[in-house]
Amino acid sequence: MAKTHANPFKPTAGGEPPLLIGRSKVIRDFEKGLDNGVGAPGRIMLVTGARGTGKTVMLTVFGDKARERNWDVIEETASEGLCERLVDALHANRRTLDHVTVKPSLSFAGVGVSLGEAELSPKRMPETLRSAMAARLDRLDKKHAGLLITIDETQAAERQDMIAIATAIQHQIRERRNIAIVFAGLPQMVSDLFNDEVITFLRRAKTNVLSDIPLEEVQSAFSDTFSTSGVSITEEQLTDATAATHGYPYMIQLVGYHIWDAADMRDSDSVIDEDVKQGIHEARIDLDNAVCIPELHGLSRNDRAYLEAMSYSDGPSSTVEIAERMGKTANYAATYRKRLLDAFVIRETERGEVDFAVPFLREYLRRMHE
Ligand SMILES: Nc1ncnc2c1ncn2[C@@H]1O[C@H](COP(=O)(O)OP(=O)(O)OP(=O)(O)O)[C@@H](O)[C@H]1O
Ligand SMILES: [Mg+2]
Repeated sequence: MAKTHANPFKPTAGGEPPLLIGRSKVIRDFEKGLDNGVGAPGRIMLVTGARGTGKTVMLTVFGDKARERNWDVIEETASEGLCERLVDALHANRRTLDHVTVKPSLSFAGVGVSLGEAELSPKRMPETLRSAMAARLDRLDKKHAGLLITIDETQAAERQDMIAIATAIQHQIRERRNIAIVFAGLPQMVSDLFNDEVITFLRRAKTNVLSDIPLEEVQSAFSDTFSTSGVSITEEQLTDATAATHGYPYMIQLVGYHIWDAADMRDSDSVIDEDVKQGIHEARIDLDNAVCIPELHGLSRNDRAYLEAMSYSDGPSSTVEIAERMGKTANYAATYRKRLLDAFVIRETERGEVDFAVPFLREYLRRMHE
């Protein structure tokens, strides 16, 4: 096959990858939710995973699946004003629809969506959001279509906004409306937001944790992608490239991209060992710049010292171990432990130890103090 001109790998944040590796089960769960009708478990879903595991990509795919079924899709990212934006988005379509389908003279009478301060006040938000959702669903019912709402970066959502959303959704579900909602975010969002008393309704949501992708799947996806783009690569080269990814989605795109690019630079349609070596090297540099360095940048010197002490372990470390390595008391170490947990840089393991929540950070720190 002739070599394509465009690099088939896409190492961009939220970018839809050419090959979505290892996520067929999650996608199937979501589609089943849509197809099995109101009340199906997949209709309220949480998608969690570390940075760069493909949460945003997943939401994009879900949006596509819903649109294929003629559903309307509202895609939002959690930050201040989330509910106001949702209310706007719920009404937006109504305005345009009215303009398109109704005579201009009538459309004004029919609009009535200019909301006063009162409707948007935090206290009234649950009610405002609820009626905006109901109005949109009424319109969609006539087309026998549903509504998908996706919320990205949910860990950054304000509690008040989550309460309003949970309340509004609960009402729609109870009234058997055709709606689905997916929340994506860092794993901490579950303990921070979803265990809240007021949001208990959302505890029933189906949770999907995006973990590392099995290496066999990575290898076969690499193999397919290279051959489809007309570039040959040996099994041994594929094995090395695959191992360098550790199954981490962002790294998969980076490694693939840079190896393909190295062969392309030589104007060649077959990968040589040097391309693999060079590609992996470039991928690590990009990963450091895109993930590790920004993550460490926002931290204090003591936070970083704590992480360095952690990096001597191959896996999770206990607070006691870390304090010993730092030459400090366990109390002192516990302060930084909490700060780093709050910053989502580390996570608590089941046994109460801590481990890195940011992939490749351990390796980066080790290289730094070599
Ligand atoms: N299943 C997958 N197979 C291959 N590549 C993937 C997959 N999922 C994501 N990627 C790639 O990984 C990178 C990161 O994806 P994405 O931005 O969706 O991650 P994220 O979890 O939203 O990260 P963040 O927490 O930083 O927002 C992108 O380059 C994307 O193309
Ligand atoms: Mg994202």
